[in-house]
Amino acid sequence: MHYVHGYSDRETTRLADQATTLEELLLSDTGYPSGSCVLEAGCGVGAQTLPLARRNPGATITAVDLSAVSLELARRRVLDAGLTGVAFRQADLRQLPYPDEIFDHVFVCFVLEHVDDVERVLQELRRVSRPGGSITVIEGDHGSFLFHPRTHASLHAWNCLVQAQAALGGDSLIGRRLFPLLRDAGFRVSTVSPRVLYADARTPEMLDAFARKIITAMVEGIRDIVLRNGLSDPGRFDEGLADLRCLASSPDSTLSYVFFKAVASR
Ligand SMILES: C[S@@+](CC[C@H](N)C(=O)[O-])C[C@H]1O[C@@H](n2cnc3c(N)ncnc32)[C@H](O)[C@@H]1O
Repeated sequence: MHYVHGYSDRETTRLADQATTLEELLLSDTGYPSGSCVLEAGCGVGAQTLPLARRNPGATITAVDLSAVSLELARRRVLDAGLTGVAFRQADLRQLPYPDEIFDHVFVCFVLEHVDDVERVLQELRRVSRPGGSITVIEGDHGSFLFHPRTHASLHAWNCLVQAQAALGGDSLIGRRLFPLLRDAGFRVSTVSPRVLYADARTPEMLDAFARKIITAMVEGIRDIVLRNGLSDPGRFDEGLADLRCLASSPDSTLSYVFFKAVASR
């Protein structure tokens, strides 16, 4: 599978940093009753599995992903954290190895933006959901990233990420599409809530996490894909990357980004 962020150690660290930084913003209102069966679709290295399992000790979580390597890392992290109630399985979201209507709840975070057949994945997630069950989808939208100071080069490097993801069949602007996508897949959408992450120099730790560990790390990780696809040249891309790096420590920096969280029922 072509996946824009890849499966490197650096990406594993980025996903963990991202989940920690965003846990309160994105997960604080997600709770599953004791005894419920939850499918985490596209768990990756377990960055969301950990807080999900910690916050919902009575629920049984089945976490699936296409990548066997990521699943192994996820399994180890859950074990190291002493969490129980999580089962891992390698599976393709386009064709899940489960019968109809067996999960009470489905949780998807930062996955739909990477699949080239999002309608099919949502239909498959609906098929395995029980009637009345819920689906929670959290996705970003790279078009919502506003930052200051900005330069032509930093804007260019950021836009390369949007183009690189599109070149691989993904859509990094998917956050704004969650409502029609879920509705058209047959779900009843209850809420779609934009969650804004904002940082400036008053909160240096948040500024560093947001600018360096999430934004710059994402753009650094796509350098090879960008150059291979002719979306930029090394000089221009690296200049943009250097400008993005400055955001983490400039006293004038301001950054904001909108995540979309949708909750729907089957
Ligand atoms: C950005 S990672 C997100 C992982 C995790 N949800 C998180 O928030 O840290 C996207 C994950 O989706 C997985 N993925 C993409 N397409 C998939 C598919 N068709 N079936 C299963 N997993 C898929 C990738 O392997 C990758 O681990």
